This record gives sequence, C-alpha cells and structure tokens, in this order.
Amino acid sequence: MTVTVVVGGFFGDEGKGKIISHLVQNVEVVARGGVGPNAGHTVVVGDKEYRLRMVPSGFAGKNVEKLLIGPGVLVNPEVLLKEIKMTNSETKLYCDPKCGIISDEHIKRDKSDAHLTGTVGTSGSGTGPANEDRVKRNLLLAQDCPELRNYLIDVPLELHKALEKGQSILLEGTQATHLSLWHGTYPHVTSKDITASAICSDVGIGPTKITDVVVVFKAFVTRVGSPKAEKMPGELTEDETKKRGWVEYGTVTQKLRRAAPFNLELAHRSMMLNGATKIAVTKLDVLFPVDEHKRNYSDLSNEAKKWISEKENQLGMIFSWIGTGPADSDIIERKIDQ
Ligand code: GTP
Ligand code: IMP
Ligand code: MG
Repeated sequence: MTVTVVVGGFFGDEGKGKIISHLVQNVEVVARGGVGPNAGHTVVVGDKEYRLRMVPSGFAGKNVEKLLIGPGVLVNPEVLLKEIKMTNSETKLYCDPKCGIISDEHIKRDKSDAHLTGTVGTSGSGTGPANEDRVKRNLLLAQDCPELRNYLIDVPLELHKALEKGQSILLEGTQATHLSLWHGTYPHVTSKDITASAICSDVGIGPTKITDVVVVFKAFVTRVGSPKAEKMPGELTEDETKKRGWVEYGTVTQKLRRAAPFNLELAHRSMMLNGATKIAVTKLDVLFPVDEHKRNYSDLSNEAKKWISEKENQLGMIFSWIGTGPADSDIIERKIDQ
C-alpha cells in the first residue's frame, strides 16, 4: 500500500502524463490535484495519443478502479464530459462536490484582461478568474451543477476508504513547481500553489499518509506563455531551439515553448520545495537521438550515461525513471545497482 505524489520540477510539460501512465500500473485509485483545465497532459497508450486537460493521466492503468478529481481542482464541465467519453471512464470517474466550476464568463475574463494576457500570459482557460471568484466565495461549485450530478463523490472520504482497504493511490500534480503562486517566478505564475503539499491539500490527504514524492524533470527546460518573464539561464533563440530539435508547442496554447538547457539550480530548489524522495527525467532521446526507445540503462550510449551521472552527482539522487520516447513503453526503470 503506497501513496505517491507526482509533480513537475520546472515550468510544466515535463512529461508527467507519461511518467504517471507508467507508475499507475500497480495502483487502484488515482486522484488529480492542481489548478484545472489550464493543464495539458499528453498520454500515449499503445498507438493512441490522448490529450487531456481534466481527466487524470492515469486513466488507462489496468488496476485502476477510481479516477478522482479533488475539491481543490477547478472543473470545466464541457471539457470534463468530453474527456470522460473519449477515455471511456464513465464508470470510474468522479469529482468532488466542492470542485469550483469554470464558466464562459471566466474564460472571457481570462482572455480579455490586459494584465492576464500580457504580463502573465495565461492559458486563457478561465482558471485564474475562477480562483479569484473562489477566494471571493461566490464561485459556483460542482454540487450546484446538474450536468455533473452523476459524477459526484466525496473525494477525501473515498481516498481514506481506499487506504483502509490497503489499496495504493497515485496523486497527480499539474503545472509545476516554478509556476507556483507562492514559490514561482511571480507574477508569471499560475493562480495557486501546485507543489506536493498543495496537491495533497487539493485532494484531502494529510502529509503523514504520503510514501513518495516524485519530482519529474525534463532533459531541458521549457516554458510556455509568460513572454515577459525573465529569460531562463542559457535560454535559446527560436532558431537555435529549432536547430537542436528542442521544439515543443503548448498542448493548450499551441504556442512555441521557450527552451533552455537543464537547470541545476531550478532542479535543486524543486527537490527542496517538494521534499522529493525520487526523481525522474524525460526526453533523454531528444538530447541523444541514438537512445530513442531504449528500455535498459546498460544499453544507453556512453554520452547519455555521462550526462545522467553528471546530473545525478550534482543533484545527489539517481533518476529512478528515464524517458526515452513519447510512448508509455519508452521508459527505463532504474535498478539499484545501475
Ligand atoms: P502539464 O500538466 O501541462 O505540465 O503536462 P505534462 O507534464 O504531462 O507534459 P505534456 O504532456 O504537456 O508534454 C510532454 C510531451 O512530451 C508530450 O507530447 C509527451 O508525449 C512527450 N514525452 C513525454 N516523455 C517523453 C520522452 O521521454 N521522450 C519524448 N521524445 N517525448 C516525451
Ligand atoms: P494560467 O495558469 O492559465 O493562469 O497561466 C499562468 C501561467 O502558467 C502561463 O505562463 C501559462 O502558460 C502557465 N501554465 C499554466 N498551466 C500550465 C501547464 O500545464 N503547463 C505549462 N504551463 C502552464
Ligand atoms: Mg502540458
């Protein structure tokens, strides 16, 4: 019986969706924390790609009985209902009656406010304005939303019942540490805290119940939106980003993500803020194309091994999982003696 929290270590889009779809294989219950549909997880199961903004990335886990969305998460009912259908999760998915509801008016506000579109560079998904109304305490909740009446459950209670039964739980974070309203690069941040402690609070689990905190990094750093945010150390020009093959477009915004090399200072601070017990790195194959799809550490090129051990020595922890491609099977699970 384990409770694992997964969070992003940089500015989002580290590939948490892919690491989660691997970790979820031995888990019965998945619960999603984080802000709301401003997230965009890409999960590749077999040859099918799913782009999800609301349904937890762990939806395809073979032992998963319940997919839960905690009361701290904002719900856009239209997006959620569409994704429930797309992922065939009608019989498993529930959100908490206290989830806040995003309306068209929140989306309009997010897309028309000069501070939000200009300085913050938001995803335009309405999450910031909805959280603003929640703080004002006049936001509509899921319990008042007829479209969601078949999908409501007391999420904290369900999680505690699962613990009593001895089941394992995976808690999904979204966004990432350096986008936190408290700990990130304010004002170029999202509308609440999203570090591991916040994810526990979002779903209603106390810190004493947590077994592991997994912080997911990517082999390079990207950030989307926030055009006015300070340059990242070593940030590449658009041309250089394209030349190196580090090109990524936002899942929600479709904007070209700004890119920079792996940043030790940001990584260290993330491990500290989240209390990391394990770390993962994705997209090793983007730095070292010869290593694409590899599944054993010993098969990696010497260059890739050197890059990994350098980072591990500097961070003082090994990467327990290494991503070598977008598919759920493109992953190296580290054995202790490697
Ligand atoms: P947010 O909640 O928005 O922060 O999302 P996320 O962390 O789940 O990441 P997102 O899915 O937005 O972006 C990651 C992209 O990288 C997706 O297109 C994944 O399919 C892809 N990906 C994940 N791991 C790997 C990897 O190891 N190698 C390669 N080449 N692609 C990967
Ligand atoms: P908001 O969360 O839509 O208010 O946007 C605030 C900032 O966080 C913007 O720079 C967004 O691009 C960024 N952001 C929010 N969610 C994500 C995510 O899931 N991945 C990457 N960036 C995100
Ligand atoms: Mg994303």
